[in-house]
Amino acid sequence: MNRARSLESYSPLPPPSELSLPSVPLPSALPAFVIKLAMALRTFFQRCADAVVPAEIAVFDRAWGTAITTMVGAAARHRIADLLGDGALTAGELAQQTGTHADVMQRMLRALATQGIFAVDPEGRFTNTRLSRGLRGGRLMRVREFLTYFTSGSNLAAWRDFDRSLSDGESAFDRVHQQSVWSWFDSHPDEREMFAHAMMGITVGDAPFVASLYPFTEVSRLCDVGGGRGMLMSELLLRFPHLRGVLVDGEGVIASARQLLAMRGVIERVELKAGSFFDAELPRDCDAYSLKNVLHDWGDQACTRILKNVRRAMSSDARLLVIEVITEPNVGTGFGPLLDVQMLVACSGGRERGVEETRRLLGGAGFRLARVVPGPTVSVLEARPV
Ligand SMILES: C[S@@+](CC[C@H](N)C(=O)[O-])C[C@H]1O[C@@H](n2cnc3c(N)ncnc32)[C@H](O)[C@@H]1O
Repeated sequence: MNRARSLESYSPLPPPSELSLPSVPLPSALPAFVIKLAMALRTFFQRCADAVVPAEIAVFDRAWGTAITTMVGAAARHRIADLLGDGALTAGELAQQTGTHADVMQRMLRALATQGIFAVDPEGRFTNTRLSRGLRGGRLMRVREFLTYFTSGSNLAAWRDFDRSLSDGESAFDRVHQQSVWSWFDSHPDEREMFAHAMMGITVGDAPFVASLYPFTEVSRLCDVGGGRGMLMSELLLRFPHLRGVLVDGEGVIASARQLLAMRGVIERVELKAGSFFDAELPRDCDAYSLKNVLHDWGDQACTRILKNVRRAMSSDARLLVIEVITEPNVGTGFGPLLDVQMLVACSGGRERGVEETRRLLGGAGFRLARVVPGPTVSVLEARPV
């Protein structure tokens, strides 16, 4: 082993050179039906691949999830795809550069090569593949940061306790760490920042859809509640020059959002407000309020508190946009079902919801569901005060 590096003290946050974001709108999203078709085809081919082996083999393969997730996470954390670039390196050279163990590096990358992530040649040199290139830093979708967050000790420890959630129905994270993921982030700012980047990467994918799905020309001042680093806000401001915004989130995330909004050249048009969406006084002068991927973090009671707090600030003709991955109770396809269990494990009472569950939540907080604009990932549910 070379340069020993304690994982505890290793901060894998993206360096400034990888932080750049365009100050023009992101490329428009492909039409929703193209995305849905591509996802359906992928599922179809995966099922075909399973069909050519005995069921036992196909299901045995699923046992490797933990191993693969852990190793892809380690490769992400050690930036293997960045180190390889367009060249080829041996495991010894990679171990030298990352302060890791050469033999284990070789075995890990060879194992990942079986999944199409990295390739190895007969001389023992590793190269990137199409899939492993997706792990490089500086990519808009921040998959490297997502994997680093997802395989963090705190998230994996929560998953290890899943069995107890299956018995008691409670969030594993809160039980294992004796606090919510949000208060954990307050005392682990690197993890909070990693999560904020991962979430931003997801919203990079969602924002062009949201912008094209909903008529933001009808909105003049939007308050994005729990808006994270401001990815959605910045994209909407770039696409709709008349729009002004208010971004509400916790203090640490707001500091990170300031950088993003400045980088995208829209900071002058956004008011930043640090505070809790449970009880902070939200701005009253907005004609639209949005909650993107916020309600899914919480159980019904907490959602009702958030919604009632937003409702208190709203005038009777303002609108609320709930932006979520709509997940119907008895549909076993798409992103929603897996995300739903991650929400159960990591968040206090978190869950994905279907249209009727969301309608009920809204109804209990003084809203009526006025329209549902379905999207290929997230959908926009417009609610109006009753
Ligand atoms: C899943 S993220 C969604 C971020 C953003 N809306 C997006 O879709 O990219 C949930 C956000 O809620 C914020 N949050 C959690 N608890 C909060 C609270 N009590 N008050 C305000 N924001 C909070 C987190 O910091 C995080 O940015």
